[in-house]
Amino acid sequence: MIRSLRLSLRFLLPLLLAILAVAYLSIPLVDSLQQRWFVRDLDIRSTLVARSFEEPLGDLLESKSHARIDALLERATVDERLYALALCDANGRLIQKTRSFPASIECSVRRLARDGAGYLLESPRGPLHVSTADLKRSDGAFATLVMLHDMSFVQRRSEDTRKYILLLFTGLGVVVALITIAVAHVSWRGWIAGVRAMLRGDGVIRPFSQPSFELQPLVPDLRALLRDLENERREENAIAIKWSPQALRRLLDEQFSGDEVIVVSNREPYIHVRSDQGIQIQRPASGLVTAVEPVMRACAGTWIAHGSGSADRESADAAGRLRVPPANPSYTLRRVWLSEEEEQGYYYGLANEGLWPLCHIAHVRPTFRMQDWNQYVAVNRKFADAVFKEVHSDDPIVLIQDYHFALLPQLVRKRLPRATIITFWHIPWPNPESFGICPWRREIIDGLLGSTILGFHTRYHCNNFLQTVDRFVEARIEYESSTVSFGGHLTLVEAYPISIAWPDAATNDEPVEAVRARIRRGLGVDDAHLLGLGVDRLDYTKGIVERLRCVERLFELHPKWVGRFSFVQIAAPSRSSLDDYQHFEQQVRVTADEINNRFGRSGWLPIRLLIEHHDEASVRAHYRACDVCMVTSLHDGMNLVAKEFVAARDDERGVLILSQFAGASRELHEALIVNPYFIEEMAATLHRALSMPEEEQRERMANLREFVRELNVYRWAGRMLLDAARVRRRERFAVRVGENGGTS
Ligand code: G6P
Repeated sequence: MIRSLRLSLRFLLPLLLAILAVAYLSIPLVDSLQQRWFVRDLDIRSTLVARSFEEPLGDLLESKSHARIDALLERATVDERLYALALCDANGRLIQKTRSFPASIECSVRRLARDGAGYLLESPRGPLHVSTADLKRSDGAFATLVMLHDMSFVQRRSEDTRKYILLLFTGLGVVVALITIAVAHVSWRGWIAGVRAMLRGDGVIRPFSQPSFELQPLVPDLRALLRDLENERREENAIAIKWSPQALRRLLDEQFSGDEVIVVSNREPYIHVRSDQGIQIQRPASGLVTAVEPVMRACAGTWIAHGSGSADRESADAAGRLRVPPANPSYTLRRVWLSEEEEQGYYYGLANEGLWPLCHIAHVRPTFRMQDWNQYVAVNRKFADAVFKEVHSDDPIVLIQDYHFALLPQLVRKRLPRATIITFWHIPWPNPESFGICPWRREIIDGLLGSTILGFHTRYHCNNFLQTVDRFVEARIEYESSTVSFGGHLTLVEAYPISIAWPDAATNDEPVEAVRARIRRGLGVDDAHLLGLGVDRLDYTKGIVERLRCVERLFELHPKWVGRFSFVQIAAPSRSSLDDYQHFEQQVRVTADEINNRFGRSGWLPIRLLIEHHDEASVRAHYRACDVCMVTSLHDGMNLVAKEFVAARDDERGVLILSQFAGASRELHEALIVNPYFIEEMAATLHRALSMPEEEQRERMANLREFVRELNVYRWAGRMLLDAARVRRRERFAVRVGENGGTS
């Protein structure tokens, strides 16, 4: 209010001064106008007076009744304005005059004032209007009447008029001022609310939050300007930073000093399992965990996840908390306990039999059951409770991971409206037709749109999501800025390709030559034997069967490789209680056996299936020992195996064969890109890889390594946090502008 008053005053003072100046300047004009009107009136009046005297005076002059002429003239001057009269004969001699007629005025004035037009004369008693009129009879003029009118009443009226004008203009000024203040106040509020809505990119139409009418034409330009500036700064910031754990920590200190970081995922980074040797710690085979764990070490926050290990409860405190990593604790793992029923419905059912096949177009039908959905909703609520219990502030940064928690962003938003919620969807997002199969598509979209930022690996998945929103809910989508305004809240939908932590220079790796020899010894083949490698969870989306068929076709097309090339498939058992996964394992085993039976010889098997959990060191040793790594997913968000392989090859050897349907193929252009559905092409590519000269391998690998080193997982997290910081600043600014606009 005060702000709008201050603004109005800046405009009002000059306005008032201008009004007063106009009033003062107009007074002389009004005076002279008035005077002219009065003189004209008096001229008319004089003519009337003369006409009324014509007859009686003619008679009285004829009868020489001077006393009666005198009485007649004196009586006429009783009128307050008619000050004096004189009667002159045709020769200009005075016949008769009233007592008030000044001696200084003679009949000669006739020449100055002729019929119908008088003149003004200053006299000691004030201005006089002098006019004359000839008195006529049928035989011509017989005398002239000289009339003096008192003009002092004009002066009196003029003063009154002046007063009225001043009063009128002052009153007018005050009314204009009051109206201006009222209009300015309302416009200011509307304008501020409009600018706020515009800054937020809010497209929801609400009174007082719409950019005002006058601002409307500017809105697209202002938004484009803001966006350009932001994008420029964003890119500059992201490029200028050399991303490392330290850089990420610095970013957190600078942009979010003191703010809490909470990560939520289904899979936990450390699983305690009971075994014959006592309690053991396992690292899960999960791209999500691979990526988020180094970020968490750098952020030192709290990671909330499902406690799924057989010895998890006894390894945590009563609240399910423990400090991890076990060797060098740097953050808190908070385990959430789920009943068997909950795990069955939420994890196996809705997440892995519903959403997983729905989002991966890999020809496995999604199954949607009502009871699974109910458990999914209940478990999302349970995790929202856990977030609420873990946070100490009302505006934490909450990083929500993956398709297990589509409802969580909105649940957290409801309880912590000021939280910065970054949700990352680690798997693909299908087109609207495919997503439309899901009976709870609206609830899922609604849930995700509670996020401040919603991230996917690729722009393609972002666009699929935006189109899905467009198809199924009432929201305002800005494709240019990639934002969705829904329920009064804005979500930025952006691509953040995930990556890995580049291995430390100090990593104590076994030299490549040594590890090549060791692994080959274990397989019973000589040092010159070529090795292909696949590292996956045993999942039908990974294209493992297609990969094996490709090896088979290679042997058919190029028999020279039989006995000289083997393929090792490391496959971590996954979601094995589900039918689809059991069938898939069966299919993989049968295919491998078939190929082994067909091409194997005594002491040598072309396919080595290692269906068991492998620790990090063992996987890394295989990466370093192989000649070709095959990532042939039928559909994959990113696939970090491709990047891990590249990172492990400090000898700059080895060839990566990569599916065009894995997000990584959008980044790793020096890989040999294949269509896993086209076995002929894959076999030809495998042959090319096995025959690739060392120099070409080195060139390709060097480029791939440079790319992955630069665009590492700290950059992935850093870019999201930079965007979140920007949104946070923007929201705080909008609130500040709003508060000031409303109260100060
Ligand atoms: C994919 C998902 C992750 C999941 C991982 C392992 O990478 O995006 O969320 O953790 O698979 O699957 P699991 O069901 O064993 O956690």
